[in-house]
Amino acid sequence: MRKVLIATEKPFAPVAVKKISKIFEKAGYELQLLERYTEKQELLDAVADVEAAIIRSDKFDEEVLNAGKKLKIVVRAGAGYDNVDLDAATANNIVVMNTPGQNANAVAELAIGLAIMGLREMYSGKPGGEMRGRTLGLHGFGYVARNVFRIARAMGMKVIVYTRYSKGAAAAIGLKVAKSLEDLYEKSDIVSIHVPARGEHIRSVSAEVLSHLKDGSILVNTARKEVINEPDLVKCMEEKPGIKYMSDLTPDSEAEFEEKFPGRFFFTPKKAGAQTAEANLNAGLAAAQQIVDFFEKGDNTHQVNK
Ligand code: 3PG
Repeated sequence: MRKVLIATEKPFAPVAVKKISKIFEKAGYELQLLERYTEKQELLDAVADVEAAIIRSDKFDEEVLNAGKKLKIVVRAGAGYDNVDLDAATANNIVVMNTPGQNANAVAELAIGLAIMGLREMYSGKPGGEMRGRTLGLHGFGYVARNVFRIARAMGMKVIVYTRYSKGAAAAIGLKVAKSLEDLYEKSDIVSIHVPARGEHIRSVSAEVLSHLKDGSILVNTARKEVINEPDLVKCMEEKPGIKYMSDLTPDSEAEFEEKFPGRFFFTPKKAGAQTAEANLNAGLAAAQQIVDFFEKGDNTHQVNK
């Protein structure tokens, strides 16, 4: 009997776990659940005896992947797979997949929520602003950004995007493409970041780009903290006292934000963008089905270490 592990430091909603277990039950697989673990050793022990794993932001580094002696597939129930060491997986003949788009609406709604919270002065009662009529700049145009676009447009916002790879998709829906990242940051009242923590995107939001932000603008980050150059952001916020930073990721320099920028930032206590029952169901069920299809049909759609 094949064994599958769900390893989630931050668990799925119970309804998602229940439905995932039904998929594996039907396939005749045995499900092992490791939730809210606090020690890496618990993960190393759990992974030793399974052929497949479903994870979220759980770190599957070389040590964990090496410990998975029978492991053939790891599915990251979500979009970003920067938590998985792809080289170590490939070296161990382990297929890594993600579930693109499945939790995108949840993250998009949080991005909009953070933007509104910033505009409304953290709900402090201080006069704020409205989304309608403001310009929203989308940094990246993947599944999350497309959902943000849909919501923002319904709110009466002007939307522009900077994307290198999805210019056609943007143009097809009449979305204006900024000529550069600098151009996007300069024209936006709110910038929402939607690029992965990979390659050229790492620390791509640096002084060069940030210097183009208007004073009074809001930077929303529901992507990854690694895409921001934090010292550059701190410097930019020191120079322009109207800028706010709203993020689903707590920066390494949190203490500096607390000391220097009261009332100008908000960080969700735990990465919460994808933490809805709907997103857990969509991503969790997709991950489970991808595992079954991989074993039963050899389907490797969504493999990210091809
Ligand atoms: C993702 O990459 O899918 C999101 O950042 C959600 O991550 P999470 O599953 O850890 O909440």
